[in-house]
Amino acid sequence: MNSIALLHAAQLVTLAGPERARIGAELSDLAIIENGGMLVRDGVIAAIGASDEIAKQLPEDVEVVDAGGRVVLPGFVDAHAHPVFGGNRVDEFEMRARGASYEEIAAGGGGIRSTVRKTRASSEAELLAQAQKRANWFLHCGTTTMEAKSGYGLSLKEELKILRVIRQLNETTPIEFVPTFLGAHAIPEEFRSAPEQYVALVIHEMLPSVAEEQLAESCDVFCEHGYFDLADSEKILMAAQEHGLRLRMHVDQLTNTGGAFLAARLRAATADHLEQTNGAEITALAEAGVQPVLLPGSVYSLGLTRYPKARAMIDAGLAVVLATDFNPGSSPTPSIPMVLSLAATQMKMTPAEGVTATTINGAYSLGRGDKIGSLEVGKAANFCIFDCADYREIAYWFGHPQTHAVYVKGQQVL
Ligand code: NIG
Ligand code: FE
Repeated sequence: MNSIALLHAAQLVTLAGPERARIGAELSDLAIIENGGMLVRDGVIAAIGASDEIAKQLPEDVEVVDAGGRVVLPGFVDAHAHPVFGGNRVDEFEMRARGASYEEIAAGGGGIRSTVRKTRASSEAELLAQAQKRANWFLHCGTTTMEAKSGYGLSLKEELKILRVIRQLNETTPIEFVPTFLGAHAIPEEFRSAPEQYVALVIHEMLPSVAEEQLAESCDVFCEHGYFDLADSEKILMAAQEHGLRLRMHVDQLTNTGGAFLAARLRAATADHLEQTNGAEITALAEAGVQPVLLPGSVYSLGLTRYPKARAMIDAGLAVVLATDFNPGSSPTPSIPMVLSLAATQMKMTPAEGVTATTINGAYSLGRGDKIGSLEVGKAANFCIFDCADYREIAYWFGHPQTHAVYVKGQQVL
């Protein structure tokens, strides 16, 4: 039996609370234990409380981890990420600096399709090696669980290749990857003149294979002008539901196509992006219990100024999630601390709301709220020690993560 005792956390940010995603004022309640401590047995939290109390009941052969007056948080849960792809898009980054827009670059053959070309040209081993390197970046920013979408393959063979890489990431890195099938990310080059045939391929060939090999837990669609319209998105998502997949959607990122209403009607687990979403959609999402996943890194990185209306969403009772949207085109950041900074400065979310949105609420959005996302007895001992004395500093000092150590299931991984 392996036991560790974490002692002397200036703030042990537990997020203890109701057994569901947090809404309204609950987002501000972090259930912090000052000078906190925690006992972990076999990777699971066995006791949590004042450091002095934990120190009194130390079992024999326990390994003591002294947090040394630092801050301890649950490992971040990044609920929207595209970590498996070939190459990068640094050339497009420079083109945008010179004034081109994301849409113009995509129309000229760049964008998602350019990453599809590089991904198809990469072997499974090459993709795995690249993604393992990126996984390490996430770990350095304090993320211990993350979603991983396919979507840069866009053929049966290539989408399965990406999903198998995600499976291998789970086996070869300390991070838990939660796989999402995003075959409907863009219409591939070879189907440009017959997009309906690609939609049929997603529904009749890709989804059945993904479900049969149990390669994904959720299905996502990029619902946007020039990508997948409302009718096609609905067809794909209804088919996914029949295969037992949960639903996530990219909606209202560049234009408002009514995708948020569709997410509400289908009772999707999440509606993501929502930069162009207004009051009526927010009400519909609230009534349907859909969690919004807000991605300020993509707004920032595309040089845009319209961030999602986080305050209106919190006021409407939505269980807001924040995530990186890590991808080579619109959001090349693995950093949840950076997202917390953007959420505070651009969306007026407090540091406390940001922490809730990147831990327990992210965990519930991925169907794991009962196992991770807070530090409570019975949950996995996934936690990070940050080299600061006040959790608000994680969002405040931006551009450099203050990660001091990371533990997954009670094992130190960084
Ligand atoms: O979430 N919106 C669609 N997907 C990504 C962008 C992907 C890319 O540009 O490669 C996003 O922003
Ligand atoms: Fe995305």
